[in-house]
Parts: sequence; structure tokens; C-alpha cells
Amino acid sequence: TEIIASVTPIIERWKDEEGPLLPILNGILRELGYVPREAIPVIADALNLTRADVYGVVSFYHDYRQEPPGRHVLKLCRAEACQALGGEAVAEKLQKLLGVRFGETSIDGSVTLEPVYCLGLCACGPSAMLDGEVIGRLDDDKVAEIAAEVRS
Ligand code: FES
Repeated sequence: TEIIASVTPIIERWKDEEGPLLPILNGILRELGYVPREAIPVIADALNLTRADVYGVVSFYHDYRQEPPGRHVLKLCRAEACQALGGEAVAEKLQKLLGVRFGETSIDGSVTLEPVYCLGLCACGPSAMLDGEVIGRLDDDKVAEIAAEVRS
């Protein structure tokens, strides 16, 4: 399949290095934006691991998304400092406005919402990252702007 064709060179590139699993998963993530289920047995065979070993690592790290992401990826900080600055209310509003829960992609494919645990912007929380760009001091206006941007 297309997926196997795109992951094979990445596996080949790393399989004889020391500690190849994470570089392979990172490479696949960069290439495809997620780690497809179909890739797991291929990686396991190449590295002489069990599928359960590989799956365990993929599911342990939040960054190894297992489904294709939406056109936009919004990460909302769920760590303590942001919570103390009203992060929960922002989370509720965003989920309602975007029609997604954490870990989901909206039905129209416009946005994936993911939790993140600290973006290093604790002093100006609640913080988020939209397509790699950090946004601090989330308030109702900024939440509305984010919703408009992902829909555009
Ligand atoms: Fe949210 Fe640090 S706790 S950015």
C-alpha cells in the first residue's frame, strides 16, 4: 500500500542504528502526520520486536497520533499553571465551538484538538498552539478567533 511504501525507506534508514524505534516513529510522523496502524507490524518485523512492543510505545507518547490529523492542529495546554488561569473554561468553550473533544478531529476534517502539558508560556496562560504557533492569554475573543481561523 501507499502507506507501507512511504514508511519503508524511513525504517530502512534507521533499522541498523542503535535505538531505532523512536527515530523511525518520528520520521513517520514527520512524513505522514500520524503513525498509521498498518505501519506497526512492518516496524515490528524490521526491528525484531513484537507488535505489542511497538504499539505500546506508539500509544505511550501523546505525540504519536494514530489517525490522520485535521487541516489544523490545535493543542491546548492542560497543565497546572494554565488551569489556574482559567484553562478549564477555555477548554469547555473551545470544545463546544469546534464541536470536538480532546483527541478528536472534527467531522469536517478542519481541526484536531489535542491536550499538551506546558508550552513554556505559563505566565501568560491559558496557552495554546495552533499549527505550531503559540497563543497566550486565551480569552473569549481569542477563542472565537481560533474557531474562525480553523473554519476558514
Ligand atoms: Fe500552560 Fe506552562 S502550564 S504553558
